[in-house]
Amino acid sequence: MDKLVIHGQQPLQGTLPVSGSKNTALPLMAATLLAKGTTTIENVPSLRDVHTFSNVLRISGADVQFDADTNRLQVDASRINYPEAPYELVKKMRASFYMLGALVGRCGRARVSMPGGCAWGPRPVDLHIQGMKAFGANIELDEGYVVATTPSGRLEGGSFRLEPSSVGATINLLLGAVTARGGSRIENAAMEPDVVAFGEALKTMGAQIDGLGTRTIEIQGVDALDAISFRNTPDRIELGTFMIAAAIAGKPGDPIRITEGDHEHLGHAFKEAFAETGAHVEYEPDVVTVAAPDTLNPVSITTGVYPGFPTDLQAQWTVLLACADGTATVTDTIYDDRFKHIPELQRLGVEVSVKGNTATVHGGGPIKGAKVMSTDLRASVSLVLAGMIAEGDTHVLRIYHLDRGYEDLQQKLSEAGVAIRREEYDEFAEPEPQQTVGAE
Ligand code: EPZ
Repeated sequence: MDKLVIHGQQPLQGTLPVSGSKNTALPLMAATLLAKGTTTIENVPSLRDVHTFSNVLRISGADVQFDADTNRLQVDASRINYPEAPYELVKKMRASFYMLGALVGRCGRARVSMPGGCAWGPRPVDLHIQGMKAFGANIELDEGYVVATTPSGRLEGGSFRLEPSSVGATINLLLGAVTARGGSRIENAAMEPDVVAFGEALKTMGAQIDGLGTRTIEIQGVDALDAISFRNTPDRIELGTFMIAAAIAGKPGDPIRITEGDHEHLGHAFKEAFAETGAHVEYEPDVVTVAAPDTLNPVSITTGVYPGFPTDLQAQWTVLLACADGTATVTDTIYDDRFKHIPELQRLGVEVSVKGNTATVHGGGPIKGAKVMSTDLRASVSLVLAGMIAEGDTHVLRIYHLDRGYEDLQQKLSEAGVAIRREEYDEFAEPEPQQTVGAE
C-alpha cells in the first residue's frame, strides 16, 4: 500500500495546473452508452475512478480505450449486450450507479448493484429509484441489485421532484429521460456545473433539454443519440483545493498561478468566503492567481447546493481555518457526518471539535507532523494540505483514496516546491518490541 510523506513548511511557489473534472467525466462516460458508435471525450483525468468506470462500461459490452498521456477516452458503444453493473465494481465507486439511467436509456432495462455506503455514512439512492419509476420503469430489488424493466422496452417519460436536490439523481434521470417516448420534467434539479456540462454534452448528442442550470429541467425524448467528440470541463474542486493550498502554504505576497481551471464553476459562496480570508486573488479566464496574506482571517462557512459552498471543499477549508488567526466554524448541510478527517487533524495538533454537523476550529496554534490516515477522497487531500504547513514530517496513509480524485497530485505539488514523496508501506507491520537491557 502507498503513503505520501510530506516534509512541511516548504513554501509553495510557481504554478499548479488543474486537471479535467472527475465529477463531470463520470456522467459523460455513462452517456456514451446512449449512442451506437464511438464517442470521444478529451481532458479526462487519469484517476482510479475513471479506470473503475471504464471496467463497468466494458462489462456491458462497450469497448473503452483510455490514453492517460493525452487524457483522451474513447468508448465504442455499438454493441451493448449485457445491461448489468456488478456489485464488485459498483461497491468501489458510487457513480457506477449512473449505469441505471444509461442502460435503461439504451436498452430499456438494467440490473445494477445498489452502491454501498461510504466513509461518512449512508448514501441513499431512493430518489434515483423513485424518479425512474415516475418516468415509467418497473423497479424490483433483488439480492442487492436494482432490476429495472420497461413494459414497452422504453421509458414513457414523466415528472418527478427531487427532495433534497441531488446531483446524482439529476444525472441518472437525465440519462433515462433523453431517449424516453414522451416528455419528462425534473423539479428541484441540481444546478452544479458538472450537471450543466453533462447536460450540454447530451444536447450535442441530439438530446432535447431545456432548463439546464435552473431548478426545473424539461426533456423531450428522442429515438436515439449520436456519438460525438466532447471536451470535459476542468475540475472545480481541484481548483478550490489549490487556491486554499496557495493561501496557507505560499510565501505571503508571492503570487501562485493556478492554471487550466474555470473559476466560474466555483460558485459565489466559495469566492466570497475566500476573499474574506484576506488572501489576494485575481481571476482571469484560464488562470487564478493567489497570494497568501500575512495573516489569514477566520471565515466561517456553511455548505450548500450550487452556487452554495461546495461540500467537497469543506475538509480543505478546515485546514485553512487551522492557519487563521482566530476561531471559525465549518457546517455541512449536505451530509450528516462528513468529518472523518477531524480526528486525524487533531493528531497533527489542530484545535478542532465537532458538534452535530458543525466543526469549530481555533486557528493559529502549532501544527506538527505525524502519521495520519486517509478515510475518503477529500479528507485525504485535507491531510496533505495540513502536512504542507506542519512542522516536520507527515505520513498520509492509505492514499488510494487520494488516487481516486486527484491526478498526479504528488508530482504537481513537488513541481510547486513541496517536499513530498510517495512510498510503499506495510499497512499491517507491527513495531518490533524493544529489548529493554537489564530489565527483570
Ligand atoms: C455528488 O455525489 C458528488 N459525486 C459528490 O462528490 C458530492 O459531494 C455530492 O454530489 C454533493 O455535491 C459525484 O459527482 C460522482 P447527491 P451524489 O445525490 O450525487 C441525499 C467527491 O468528493 N440523497 O447530490 O451522491 C444524499 O444523501 C464526491 O467527488 C438522498 O437522500 O450526491 C445527500 O445528503 C463525494 N437520496 C444529498 O442528497 C438519493 O437518492 C446530496 O447528495 C440521493 C441523494
